[in-house]
Amino acid sequence: MKQNSLKEAVSWAAINFIQPNTIVGIGTGSTIDYFINALVSIKHQIKGVVSSSEKSTNKLKKLGIKIIDLNEINFLPIYIDSADEIDSQLCMIKGGGAALTHEKIIASVADKFICIVDVSKKVNVLGRFPLPIEVIPMARNFIIRELEKIGGIPKYRQDVTTENGNIILDIHNLHILDPISLEKHINSIPGVVTVGLFASRKADIVLISTSKGIEIIKE
Ligand code: 5RP
Repeated sequence: MKQNSLKEAVSWAAINFIQPNTIVGIGTGSTIDYFINALVSIKHQIKGVVSSSEKSTNKLKKLGIKIIDLNEINFLPIYIDSADEIDSQLCMIKGGGAALTHEKIIASVADKFICIVDVSKKVNVLGRFPLPIEVIPMARNFIIRELEKIGGIPKYRQDVTTENGNIILDIHNLHILDPISLEKHINSIPGVVTVGLFASRKADIVLISTSKGIEIIKE
């Protein structure tokens, strides 16, 4: 099966996890684009969506799905998003689409994080996909030097400004054996807004789309 068909299949499978009359948090990316298409089928059964990016918001609005501001709610039952890599402990690398900060905020509010991926995203050790970090622009070279101290090779993502007005560094050459410690360490560097390691707040459930069907792994 082609990767896009796998993304579409897992998006439809995720619809079964949404309870009627609830608010759904959603991420950003090509998998989530398929998920939004599937969500249209139940749009009259949900209260609305908390969106993580302008890209997802624009698509949701076009399809007539109500957008809800995160500050207007105090409980979010479910967050559905994809990942760039996910390991067997359900820790993830995210941020390929540069929406990592909003994604991490919504994921942290949500009661349940359901990660939907095609099988190519499953890894034994995180780090083959360069780890994205959102950074305050003036701290760029300082943060690059700090990341080099831990063996990373940071590359400035050219021509990308996040929705918060910041830049993205992608750290190559990492073999992430302790995602929780690395997440804490990178978060402690002044000027780092968000690291795209989702280890302290990992997924609760992952749906993995394979050519044989959908594999469900729970924490
Ligand atoms: C965006 C993300 C995405 O979830 C991640 O990049 C996966 O994207 P795609 O579904 O296009 O493969 O973290 O910031």
